[in-house]
Order: sequence, then C-alpha cells, then structure tokens
Amino acid sequence: MRFHVMTLFPEMFDVMHTSVIGRAMERGLIALRTYQIRDFSDDAKHHKVDDYTYGGGAGMLMRAQPVYDCYRHVVEGIQGCEPPASAGGRSANDISAKLRTVYLTPQGIPFTQEMARGLARAEDVVLLCGHYEGVDERVLEEIEAERISIGDYVLSGGELPAMVLIDAVARLVPGVLSNEESAQTESFDDGLLEYPQYTRPEVWRDRRVPEILLSGDHAKVDAWRKEQAVARTREMRPDLLAGCVPPMANAEGCEPPASALDVSSSLYCAGHSAEPVVSAPWHTSREEEIMQSPGAADKRERLSATELDDTSRYFHVGAVAGTHALKGEMRVFPTTDDPERFTEGLVLYARKANAKASDRKKDGGGADALRTLTVESARVHGKFVLVKCKEVNSVEDAEALKGTELYVSREDAIPLEEGEYFVVDLIGLSMRDEEGKELGTLKDVISAPANDVYVMEHKETGKEILLPAIKQCILNVDMEQRVMTVHLLDGLLDVY
Ligand code: ADE
Repeated sequence: MRFHVMTLFPEMFDVMHTSVIGRAMERGLIALRTYQIRDFSDDAKHHKVDDYTYGGGAGMLMRAQPVYDCYRHVVEGIQGCEPPASAGGRSANDISAKLRTVYLTPQGIPFTQEMARGLARAEDVVLLCGHYEGVDERVLEEIEAERISIGDYVLSGGELPAMVLIDAVARLVPGVLSNEESAQTESFDDGLLEYPQYTRPEVWRDRRVPEILLSGDHAKVDAWRKEQAVARTREMRPDLLAGCVPPMANAEGCEPPASALDVSSSLYCAGHSAEPVVSAPWHTSREEEIMQSPGAADKRERLSATELDDTSRYFHVGAVAGTHALKGEMRVFPTTDDPERFTEGLVLYARKANAKASDRKKDGGGADALRTLTVESARVHGKFVLVKCKEVNSVEDAEALKGTELYVSREDAIPLEEGEYFVVDLIGLSMRDEEGKELGTLKDVISAPANDVYVMEHKETGKEILLPAIKQCILNVDMEQRVMTVHLLDGLLDVY
C-alpha cells in the first residue's frame, strides 16, 4: 500500500521512518511519498500557494491551482490510474476504489478504527494536508476528497493528522505488525475499551488479581473480559456504545431517533454530523397524504407518513444529509448495517424528520409528508452513500429532501441469516437465567463492531445491565415463548 502526501512541509514526515512504520517501509510493505505542493504553483517567481479569501476575513487560503496540479501529478503517477474527471476522464476515485483521496481538516468526519480498516483496503491513499485557513473549496470538490478530522481541536496544519492516519492505517496492513501485536489490535477492534489487565504478582499492596483470571478456564476468562470491557466502556465512553452506527443486531429493525441527523442524537450521530440539520422545504399537500411520485413502484400501497411509525413493518435505513453534484444525487447517512443495500429498484419512503405522529404539532402543520422514491443507482462514498433516485433529478429536488428519514418496508429488508433477528422483534423479550428465573426485559440492542450488546432492564433494581451477545452469555432465544435465556457471570451485577 502506498501513501502519497501532498504537503507544504514534506520534511515533517521524516519521523515516519522510525519504529513500526519505518520498519514496514524498509520491508516494502508500505511506501510513503511526499509531494511539495509549492513546486506545482503557477507563480514561477514566488511559488505562491496561498491568497486572500473572497468575502473578506482574516487569514489566507490555499489556492486551488497548485493543489490541483499536484494532485494530478500524483494520480498520473499512480500506475493504472487516469487523470481525474475534469481532464476529460472519469474521476480518479471512480476509476479505482483502490485509490482513496483524503483531505485532513477539523471540518471532517471524526477518524475511527473502522475508517482506518476501510482505508487499509486501498492500494493508494492520497492525503492532502491543509494550511492557513484551509483550501479553496472548488479543488476539494474537483478531486472528490473525503474529509477526515482526527479530533475536535484545531492544529496548525494537516501534517500531524496525516501522520496519525498513516500510522493507524499502516499497522492494519498484513505483515506490518507481528502476530502478537496484531492480536492486540483485534481486541480494540471490537469497538470497546480494553478490559482490565494484570501481571505478576498475584497480590500487590493488598490488591488481588480477580480470581477468575487464575482459574485457567479460558471460556470463563473470555466472557469475564468481554463483560468488563462492556462495563468499562459504558462508564468511560458511553458514546462508543450509544454512537455505534448502526446500533443493532440487524439495524434495520430498530427505532430511529427523532432525526437521524439531529446532532444532539448521540444514538446515531455521535460525531457524524457532517452538517447541521435544517428543515427541508417540503412540498406537500394535506396532512396524512403521501406524495406518490411518478416512477415509484406501483405495487406499493398508499401510505400515510405516520404509518412509518410502525417499526415492525418499516425499517429505518438512512437519512438524507445533503446533496451531491447537480443531477439530484443525495448524500445519505446510512443507518443500516449494510450501506451497499441501496440497490437499483429499491423503494424508499422518505419522511420529513418531524413528521412522526408523536412529534406532530396540534395543527399538523403539513408535517406528515411522505415521498416514495425508487433507487436508480447508489455508491458508497466514505461514511455516506450517494443515492440517485428516479424521482429526484435536480439539485433543488435533492435539497428539498434534505433532513428526511429513509425507510424501507419489511418486505424489502435485508434477509436474515439463521439465528439473526430484527431488533424490533427482540425488544421486550423476557430475560431468564438457566433456572428459568426472570431477570428482566430486553430493552435495547447496541452494536459494537464485533458483537452486539443487549441492554437488560433488571426486574428488581431497574438498572440497565449490559450483556455481550456472545454464546457464553446468551444461551438461547425462543421467539415463540418470547424468552431469552442468559448466563450472568458471577459478580456482573456488582459492577453496576
Ligand atoms: N487540521 C487542523 N486540525 C485538524 C484536525 N483536528 N484534524 C484533521 N486535520 C486538521
């Protein structure tokens, strides 16, 4: 895998030649090339790369020209890739999903381990490091750069963030870490904080190592670790559990928040609010009336917007975050566990966020509006899916749908594998121990990347107990009797 870094400070990347990443470069597993953006400036005399911003304001902006020419040079140099769209061909990102272009910016999507895993699948990653007050927007659009932030703070440039990204991605490239080191990465990969660990001696300043770790029973040790990891994550980083997207065993069977784009809704959006939500202008006729758009699948019955509240029949699959390009493509934030599920012909019900019966104002306000859309094409683009629907053919049409929630009917839901359930069907199951004693009720299901976490409301204390959905803890699910049999490890209830 190759990293191509466009920067004004190539020398900063010298530090990457040390330690794990340096060794990986020496072994030819990864390559890192830097490009001095200044060398591409059309200002022959001063190699100027920045200029004042239109509209006034303090600070300078990086000019489009040197960045674009540098980018073209990089892409043309990447074997098998053609120049980007404006040069007459298709965009570089279209040519090969193996090429990813990233602009490091505090305005980007927060970088996560999951994003690192995605980038590690590319062959070439082009990184643009900004400086000054940023980069002319037009060149970012032209090169179709994904915007990534490494955290909610502002650094002086994109170089350190680029190095953070390179380190996180490169260590996922097969062979870069030793087997032992890889195993450690995996344990973080489950989206939970690490469980507590201990080394010798068994007793230190009167503190004993937990007995179970000395038992030699590996299954029990694994289950204990998982439970501790869940409990610790809940205490230190509840956002990691709440912010899992999608949040479910099968996310399609879950209750969406008031708006999946609501920045205050941590359930779906922790850190993913690419833009603040504004209510879309909505063309509707009467309350409860659906706007059946021409082209939507005829077989669909006429629906009212509030019918979508029936979460056992309609599954939330995403929300329209904005527009993309001019021909009516929508930028959809997926809340389904399979962003690839927006396939041609899929019928989507698009409902304005405040059109839920429970949110409706007394006067209705024309809020209950629904449109039926048919997917024409879709492609995954970073954290978003760019969806083109038959009925949406201009940027204005797409803009009108901004802020709407997207649903599919249950018949169009992703088929379940054996032993898989829609969350909506699981919620409310009675949770019992091996002896049949009722412990509580399943209240929610949270998805951490490696396994789901079941939230049980304890019958006696009312507390929420989190159980990893692993076979040591979840012994049986009987949908007919609506009973889930679980095993609570000794001491788990004491953690809460
Ligand atoms: N450039 C400046 N600050 C940044 C940040 N927090 N993340 C990514 N790029 C940046």
